[in-house]
Amino acid sequence: MGILHYNKSDLPFNDSMLRSWENDGFLIINNFYSDLECETLKNQANYLVKNFDYQNHQSVFNTNKQNKVKDDYFLESGDKIRFFFEENSFKENGELTNDIEFLINKIGHAMHDLDPIFINFSHKKELDDIAKGIKINNPLLVQSMYIFKQPRIGGEVICHQDSTFLYTIPDSVVGFWIAIEDANIENGCMWADRGGHKEPLRKLFKRKNNILEMETIDKTPFKELTTPLEVDKGTLILLHGRLPHYSTHNKSLKSRHAYTMHVINGEYTYPSFNWLQRPANFPFKGFIN
Ligand code: FE2
Repeated sequence: MGILHYNKSDLPFNDSMLRSWENDGFLIINNFYSDLECETLKNQANYLVKNFDYQNHQSVFNTNKQNKVKDDYFLESGDKIRFFFEENSFKENGELTNDIEFLINKIGHAMHDLDPIFINFSHKKELDDIAKGIKINNPLLVQSMYIFKQPRIGGEVICHQDSTFLYTIPDSVVGFWIAIEDANIENGCMWADRGGHKEPLRKLFKRKNNILEMETIDKTPFKELTTPLEVDKGTLILLHGRLPHYSTHNKSLKSRHAYTMHVINGEYTYPSFNWLQRPANFPFKGFIN
């Protein structure tokens, strides 16, 4: 059976959506954001990038190199707005190999609490209703990322489960992923293992004395991911924290901008080994408070 696409006009959240979520491990809601909202967020992301002083912060994002790393710029980004580059963005002398807007991989990880345009985009009653619909009783936003997936150079994100990176006991993280531009097979859309969220969590990404380490907790191999999540601009996709997913290299001439927020259930324990930690005076907040 083809995958189900709901529409914003199908809200409020209903039993059909809940069944789809529980069966597939993802839920697609088309037209959740308007073209104007997407354009406004994109303009703000581009504005932040253009005004970023990259000279002292040359941090590259690569999902193939996460076995054991020390990266303070990344580790300290949980309560900040920071910038991460594609591979090969810098020459040996530290200069960029192209204009910065063509080399940036993503911005993270607290725009939803720090930037007025991102705050406005991220805090909505409808998002809170959806989170509660999928039984996250106390939804808290822990992380935001703006992903550029640049034309030609936008790197792949290897198969993973989001609970690996943001873990609660028991696990509860859900990705709220929004297409800021159309996403399709050509420009590197996400692919998922439909129903694969019913399988165990394979790995945990842990901070130990400010070193990041990937720990295997279950050796069940990932299945082949056969479901492309092709969606139009403005679509909201919910991704279960245990759903295996990845996205391919963008070999096309079109970028594939996306914005994601990761939400946990605040009723559960958030362990100190999670890489993302907030100071006590800057706690996680919900969608509506
Ligand atoms: Fe992910």
